[in-house]
Amino acid sequence: MRSRITVVGAGNVGATLAQRLAERDYADVVLVDIVEGLPQGKALDMLESGPVVGFDSLVAGSNDYAATAGSDIAIITSGVPRKPGMSRDDLVMTNAKIVSGVTRELVNHSPDCILIVVANPVDAMAQLAHAISGFSRERVIGMAGILDTARFRTFIAQELDASVHDVQAYVLGGHGDTMVPLTRLTTVAGIPVGDLIPKERLDTIVQRARDGGAEIVNLLKTGSAYYAPSAATAQMVDAILHDTRQVLPCTVRLQGEYGVDGVFTGVPCRLGTGGLLEVIDVELTDDERAALHRSADAVRQVVAVMDARRSEIDPALQPML
Ligand code: NAI
Ligand code: 2OP
Repeated sequence: MRSRITVVGAGNVGATLAQRLAERDYADVVLVDIVEGLPQGKALDMLESGPVVGFDSLVAGSNDYAATAGSDIAIITSGVPRKPGMSRDDLVMTNAKIVSGVTRELVNHSPDCILIVVANPVDAMAQLAHAISGFSRERVIGMAGILDTARFRTFIAQELDASVHDVQAYVLGGHGDTMVPLTRLTTVAGIPVGDLIPKERLDTIVQRARDGGAEIVNLLKTGSAYYAPSAATAQMVDAILHDTRQVLPCTVRLQGEYGVDGVFTGVPCRLGTGGLLEVIDVELTDDERAALHRSADAVRQVVAVMDARRSEIDPALQPML
């Protein structure tokens, strides 16, 4: 039987992701949104591309979670994107109310699913989805590190006129200004990037990767990035459904790894059947570790804002910190 994937939010990220997944032809896709007709219309349009592109995946749209029942993976993209001048954290209470309600519906209809959280601020939203769902940490994973790393890899490849395939890199930490690009472990065809790009220039590239989301928001003016975010999310789905056991930077609840406990933040994760298989505990320098801790603290502060106002989000929500 084909796997079933639900994508909640038929906006820019959700619809592009649904299309990417349908075209992979390994699962049926259900697209859900609160706007009547929107998921139905986009899903039908995608389905009708099947004979041309050559896929048999069923794509269905709905405003009713009954259509999502029995999903193997459910992806939460429903949420407000930021506008120029806003930080991802400015979205917290609006998106917390959306993500909590959506999580309850998904869990009711697909109690065995794996949740992938995309809505921002993603680390805090993943923490919320974990708390609301009651799922183990293995089954609630946030998407950000693959995107941040992809941006970093793109800029390095451009700088060196190299193939993106040759650039290996990791960006750890929360998805925000405090993210931690690990230049020490970044290589191009196996050569440390520090041997190829002067430090000052590398610092500029690191900063551009940090500001990568804002760069696109400022260009688009009415929304945020979605081509790279949907590609990054689809890579997580591939790893889980095909049990590739690939190591990808994802946001997960740390339980002592890297000296961080009880908060979601971005670290290298092995993904496969069941979701998170393993957090890869890379040896960090003191400076890198301190930067990762600052980043985890920034996530903690956003979660504390939700904790303080948790009755507004969901009367049954217990403290998350
Ligand atoms: P969008 O505005 O294009 O789409 C959001 C969709 O969610 C809309 O169609 C809206 O009707 C729907 N929605 C709102 N409330 C809902 C509810 N209660 N139930 C079902 N659907 C609901 O926004 P876009 O660009 O797709 O971004 C979605 C979210 O993903 C934003 O929060 C954005 O910041 C975040 N994002 C996160 C990234 C990451 O790296 N983690 C990357 C890109 C976007
Ligand atoms: C990004 O980094 C909006 O978080 C999203 O593009």
